[in-house]
Amino acid sequence: MPHIDEHRHEGAVALLTGAGSGIGRACALRLAQEGAIVVGCDVNAAALEETRAAIRAVGRDVDIVTGDVTKQADVDRVVAEVIGRHGQIDILGNIAGIMDWFLPAHEVDDETWTRVMDVNVNGVMRLCRRVLPGMIERHQGAIVNIASVGGFRGGAAGVAYTASKHAVVGLTRSIGWTYRDEGIRCNAICPGGVATNIGTTAVPRSAWGLERLHPIHAAAARMAEPDEIATLLSWLASAEASNVSGAVIADDGGWTAG
Ligand SMILES: NC(=O)c1ccc[n+]([C@@H]2O[C@H](COP(=O)([O-])OP(=O)(O)OC[C@H]3O[C@@H](n4cnc5c(N)ncnc54)[C@H](O)[C@@H]3O)[C@@H](O)[C@H]2O)c1
Repeated sequence: MPHIDEHRHEGAVALLTGAGSGIGRACALRLAQEGAIVVGCDVNAAALEETRAAIRAVGRDVDIVTGDVTKQADVDRVVAEVIGRHGQIDILGNIAGIMDWFLPAHEVDDETWTRVMDVNVNGVMRLCRRVLPGMIERHQGAIVNIASVGGFRGGAAGVAYTASKHAVVGLTRSIGWTYRDEGIRCNAICPGGVATNIGTTAVPRSAWGLERLHPIHAAAARMAEPDEIATLLSWLASAEASNVSGAVIADDGGWTAG
């Protein structure tokens, strides 16, 4: 059972992308339960409404704003709306992400490569560059990026997803290092398999590719619940993790330990 600390994020404003489903929804719920003013962002407006209903069902609330992280104009609007309504952004959770149909390098098409990079990498960069100036000004901020075990190993997904999550790891370390004296921390979580809706957008399209991934997939731990990832995100975003920055942490039940 998760330990809910109702005051952990009291008064902090948290912007979370991908909040309409899976890990993003679980993080929105957890931070709202722990006192944060949460703004959930997602490209899927109906899914965001479901997240809001789930959070209201436990007596908490969440602000929502629809936006596509692949569009800079959307990101600009989302960040401006959050600051306009809540004054600042203390916590940024870059959670939105998609998979790549497990396509290997010789089968990947331009559309898949470009889309995966645009959502998983460029989206994270776009949010960070708009949110960081306010954090620098206030000398305070915590960014948590959801990468993947595919961010530090080559056999978990297709080439586009793997490269995109390696890039998220690099982005995390760059920000963790560069802004360490600005009161800003940036960390990445690398989940293994988590029971979410991402599987429905990642039906394997390459039998050849999937066969090559088999030894790694066969060694996977059990599927985690999204809430188990939210626990780590909440801690990394909190003052308790004041000395943790630039860290890339597996949350995979030991999958990558072997
Ligand atoms: N589920 C897993 O097994 C697993 C494992 C490792 C890492 N991850 C990562 O966790 C993160 C969350 O994924 P999930 O498993 O909760 O999947 P999910 O599909 O349940 O949720 C992802 C959410 O992101 C949103 N989204 C997609 N594209 C977007 C865009 N362009 N702009 C704004 N929102 C967008 C979707 O609408 C969806 O609500 C992703 O970055 C994913 O790569 C998931």
